[in-house]
Amino acid sequence: MNQNVSSYIMPTYGERSIEFVKGEGCYLIDKNNKKYLDFGTGIAVNSLGHCHPILVKKLQKQAAKLWHTSNLYYNSEQEEYAKILCNNSFAEKIFFTNSGVEAIETGIKVVRSYHYSKKNLKKKNIITFEGAFHGRTFAALSAQKKYSEGFEPLLPGFIQVPFNNIEILEKNIDQNTAAIMIEPIQGEGGVIAADLIFLEKIRKICYQNDILFFLDEVQSGFGRSGKLFSYEWANFEPDVMATAKGIGSGFPLGACMATEKAAAGMIKGTHGSTFGGNPLAISVGIEVIKIMIDKNFMIQVDKKARYFWYKLKEFEKQFDEIIEIRGAGFLLGIKTKNNNIEINNLLTKNGLLCLIASDNIIRLAPPLIVNKNEIDSALQIIKKTLKEID
Ligand SMILES: Cc1ncc(COP(=O)(O)O)c(C=O)c1O
Repeated sequence: MNQNVSSYIMPTYGERSIEFVKGEGCYLIDKNNKKYLDFGTGIAVNSLGHCHPILVKKLQKQAAKLWHTSNLYYNSEQEEYAKILCNNSFAEKIFFTNSGVEAIETGIKVVRSYHYSKKNLKKKNIITFEGAFHGRTFAALSAQKKYSEGFEPLLPGFIQVPFNNIEILEKNIDQNTAAIMIEPIQGEGGVIAADLIFLEKIRKICYQNDILFFLDEVQSGFGRSGKLFSYEWANFEPDVMATAKGIGSGFPLGACMATEKAAAGMIKGTHGSTFGGNPLAISVGIEVIKIMIDKNFMIQVDKKARYFWYKLKEFEKQFDEIIEIRGAGFLLGIKTKNNNIEINNLLTKNGLLCLIASDNIIRLAPPLIVNKNEIDSALQIIKKTLKEID
């Protein structure tokens, strides 16, 4: 062992200078006691903020009772949770995972096993979109191409076409097409919402050609768009969907959701996960969704998100630095003239944590529980920062 290294962690994230020691609602506190308003939420994860008292209580209670049994044994709470998810979405079957990319991987297996179970052995290809981000496993890298350099050979069977372009998509569909996989709002790709008409047309194409419509709502799901799932803004339902991030408000959890028909091939022995949907994760997940499906919750999220949007749109007119405000709900992007990483560093220095995204975007993903005063504070910091650059 080399005793002289400064870190024993693989440096895949580069240098990280800030260390947080406490989280409270919409705030994070670092080890120097500096308080930050958190509009990055650990990459769009802490949907109900940090250490939500109901979640803390439930997790503590569960931690004292039972942590892990594996999926070899029945878990009635897991069953109850899956039922709540199904009752509040298009889905009829759930597979629990620990992360977003595992839900994507599961969805890809749902797709391939569906066609295999129908003895349709040609249908293997999955069409994906330029700018997509689906995660870091080999299937996700193969689907999105992004971040795949040096990891070749990638998996075959993925075809990428431009986002929001129905003509080119149609030209790429053939008898080998098994699924179309898309993020309703591209997050990492630059906070770009898919046109709702485009999504509805994909739905039709899928019906006509026995293709599964696979949504990646890992980032856009669980209230981020102002509805529980962002597909609810349009007039269609998918066949398969991957979700994660906001589902556990910070506890590692994900889910692949599917119709019974689409999940027909996921029979005994086809898939598994040692930890997926373990008692701790389920205990938190149940409380998160109970809060989110309370009838007033999403109405409030939508209302607050619209307020934030209109205020940012005013900034767009006031500040030359802003090229565009984009996105939906509480997944918003500010496209800036100057380098987004430098602006993000300034925002951090001024006490507002945000994210970045492709296309020189500052990405904002506040906790859904944020209140008007906290939004106003964030707006003040953004204004101050933009003035510093101007
Ligand atoms: C749309 C989308 N899909 C998949 C993933 C992968 O999720 P995870 O990092 O939990 O594996 C992410 C992560 O940022 C994402 O934004």
